[in-house]
Amino acid sequence: MTGRYDAALTRLGASSAPRIVYKNLMTTVALIVAAGRGTRFGTETPKQYNMLLGKPVLAWTIESFLNHRGIDQVRVVIHPDDRALYDHAVGDRKIESPKIMGPISGGDTRQASVKAGLDALVGDPCTRVLIHDAARPIVPGDMIDRILSGLDHAPGVLPALAVVDSLRKVADGVVSGTLDRDGVVRAQTPQGFRFDAIHAAHSAVGDDHSFTDDVAILDANGGRIIVVAGDDRSLKITENADMSRIEQIILQNLTDIRVGSGFDVHTFGTGDHVTLCGLKIPHSHGLVGHSDADVGLHAITDAILGGLSEGDIGQAFPPSDPQWRGVDSAVFLNFAKDRVTARHGIIAHVDVTIICERPKVSPHRDAMRTRISDILRIDLSRVSVKATTTEKLGFTGRGEGIAAQATVTLRLP
Ligand code: CTP
Ligand code: MG
Repeated sequence: MTGRYDAALTRLGASSAPRIVYKNLMTTVALIVAAGRGTRFGTETPKQYNMLLGKPVLAWTIESFLNHRGIDQVRVVIHPDDRALYDHAVGDRKIESPKIMGPISGGDTRQASVKAGLDALVGDPCTRVLIHDAARPIVPGDMIDRILSGLDHAPGVLPALAVVDSLRKVADGVVSGTLDRDGVVRAQTPQGFRFDAIHAAHSAVGDDHSFTDDVAILDANGGRIIVVAGDDRSLKITENADMSRIEQIILQNLTDIRVGSGFDVHTFGTGDHVTLCGLKIPHSHGLVGHSDADVGLHAITDAILGGLSEGDIGQAFPPSDPQWRGVDSAVFLNFAKDRVTARHGIIAHVDVTIICERPKVSPHRDAMRTRISDILRIDLSRVSVKATTTEKLGFTGRGEGIAAQATVTLRLP
């Protein structure tokens, strides 16, 4: 599908995902550890695979690195049981970006997972590695800049935040002393390292699994670590309540709110079913069209492209092109969704109205909403499907065809 989408992108004059790996003298790998079970988060699916504004948490984390031109490769350490969840999270992005390399199997502790990741990088042309928790989906680009610059001066770089609250010791619910917060910081990830230094340090600590992060391991081995400013938006998801805080932070960045509209019509012809909003519905006629003639999905696709100001469906997928004959219109909608992702935005809401006398839409409404939310990977509550007749007036009233009209709300950075 990527090749097909390339042609569509060119027609829209839009830029494709980078195909050439950013080359410099160093090769910098983002190593994301995602093999944890998320016990404190408490859902059956580990937290890094939970949905966050239409994408799994891990997809946000990966994209933060893919979007940075200083990162040459992204590798994720996963639990062997999570392969299907990983494939879903990476989705089309795996094909779209040559930067994503195959996942690595992790271990029982975070430290063991990092070690497995580092071992897998031995022999690769990796000179610098940024080790990051999958559970921190927001990684601002300027934070990555600071870490990469720091690596010019030391083998280890820690992004950290100042401690502003007083620190107290507590025993059995009673204050038992005060800690000096002078010279104390809160450690974040990604932590940056020269590869050889951190790999040697991890190998040297061997079976001692008491380290909570990689800076502690390099420090225990005498490596010099400099501190750069972290970012307070880069929260770690630990408990369930952290999700809504992260959601708010992401939404605060998506201030460019767009409304796109789309409209489509197809004529009735011979056939025994119509395809509407991704569903095959038995009917006395079919709809005539080059693809599957799904007016609903076509209107939504156009609304999304409209909201992005990136042309329209006919421009991206010309009816004159034989490869789109009879194609499932989910392909077009998926393309539009990927354009929103490429612009680092989200689809906040979809509202589509089907205009026809027959077939009756209401019995299929919920299934249509589910299908659209599946294709767009957004919550069902963000998808509305409505239907109306035109009281027997006009071409839809005479039963000559079906029309659909869609409005989509997008939020872009
Ligand atoms: N991690 C890992 N391998 C492990 C344990 C943790 O790769 N054996 C990863 C987690 O997936 C997470 C990061 O290390 O991205 C930080 O760990 P934490 O926030 O503690 O996540 P979990 O261990 O999954 O959560 P919990 O401790 O609540 O079980
Ligand atoms: Mg843990």
